[in-house]
Amino acid sequence: MSKRRITILPGDGIGPEVTHEARLLLEEIAEALGEQWTLDEALVGGAAYDATGSPLPDETVALCKASDAVLLGAVGGPKWDHLPGSTRPEAGLLGIRKQLGVFANLRPIKTWPGLLLASPLKPELLSGVDMVIVRELTGGLYFGQPKKRVEDGAAVVDTLYYTRGEIERVVRQAFMIAQGRRKKLTSVDKANVLESSRLWREVVNDLAPEYPDVEVEHILVDSAAMQLIQRPNQFDVVVTENMFGDILSDEAAVLTGSIGMLPSASIGLDGPGLYEPVHGSAPDITGKGIANPLASFLSVAMLLRHSLHLDEVATQVEDAVLSVIESGCRTRDLAGPGEEWLGTKEISSRVRSDVRGRLE
Ligand code: NAI
Ligand code: MG
Repeated sequence: MSKRRITILPGDGIGPEVTHEARLLLEEIAEALGEQWTLDEALVGGAAYDATGSPLPDETVALCKASDAVLLGAVGGPKWDHLPGSTRPEAGLLGIRKQLGVFANLRPIKTWPGLLLASPLKPELLSGVDMVIVRELTGGLYFGQPKKRVEDGAAVVDTLYYTRGEIERVVRQAFMIAQGRRKKLTSVDKANVLESSRLWREVVNDLAPEYPDVEVEHILVDSAAMQLIQRPNQFDVVVTENMFGDILSDEAAVLTGSIGMLPSASIGLDGPGLYEPVHGSAPDITGKGIANPLASFLSVAMLLRHSLHLDEVATQVEDAVLSVIESGCRTRDLAGPGEEWLGTKEISSRVRSDVRGRLE
């Protein structure tokens, strides 16, 4: 398979700045592999709203669905904060996730040896941290019905609803990811209180015999919140429901020190995966040429691995990022006081030339 189609959704704020560099990286990889890749661009978020009146135009959805993978920058910004929910930029993001049926959100959390001081935690706690949080993305408390005010507004209900099938498919993804790593799966729930968590735990235990090489443990979410900070390097793959995963993945992000280094992938059973840096549109630094593009580069690595099955190239991109950091290069968000740093284009070109060297 050498004809690949990737749709890039730059979005708003620094989104276009970082996805531009990611596009250059993809172009260079395709060229080095001697393949022809089609890289399309489409509108999403505030940029799409300004041009079409919708944060997720139909053409964007169609283009994404016809692709092997989608790379998104970021959406949102103060310019659109006054809009009602359905036309806000965020509606474009939730919409595309739903349209692509991406139910598993993968967030790798890895500390970089050269960047331990960027984290608020003690360096000795952080070395060797390398985990993936697998968050269920399309079910649970955020989507369950009913979800409304009741009793004339005097009471309210949100519903944590899961089918066995919804739990099974995301847990299977987590088991498979664990098989490709250190073979340890931690399932996080609240089974001492929630019925939904008891079914979650049951499904994990039912599936475990199919993955005999993976060691399984269950921990309660409140304990997980403490252990993520106290002993973060005990975790390999963590799987959990939507809301627990939302909270724990942001907590774990703090371990790495900068949001500018964190990638994510959202994948479904078939169809294109959606890859995006964890950070937002960063209106405070937009247009200054100082955004860190490395979260986007690491998202490209995940795209290469999960959607294009180019594992080796993915690892080369990750190694290139590591080696540029190890050589002392910093962007502004990573630099300590008085330390020199490089702009978006400069660090991008260092990493890309390192990648080229590895692919030759
Ligand atoms: P943010 O992630 O955009 O920015 C938080 C802080 O981190 C800012 O100081 C920013 O300058 C810095 N930062 C973020 N990415 C960076 C990068 N690549 N390089 C260097 N510094 C970086 O989060 P914030 O400020 O809460 O939200 C800003 C806007 O982004 C809002 O409209 C929000 O709704 C939206 N947002 C969008 C997301 C998405 O598209 N997935 C996720 C989070 C927020
Ligand atoms: Mg969150």
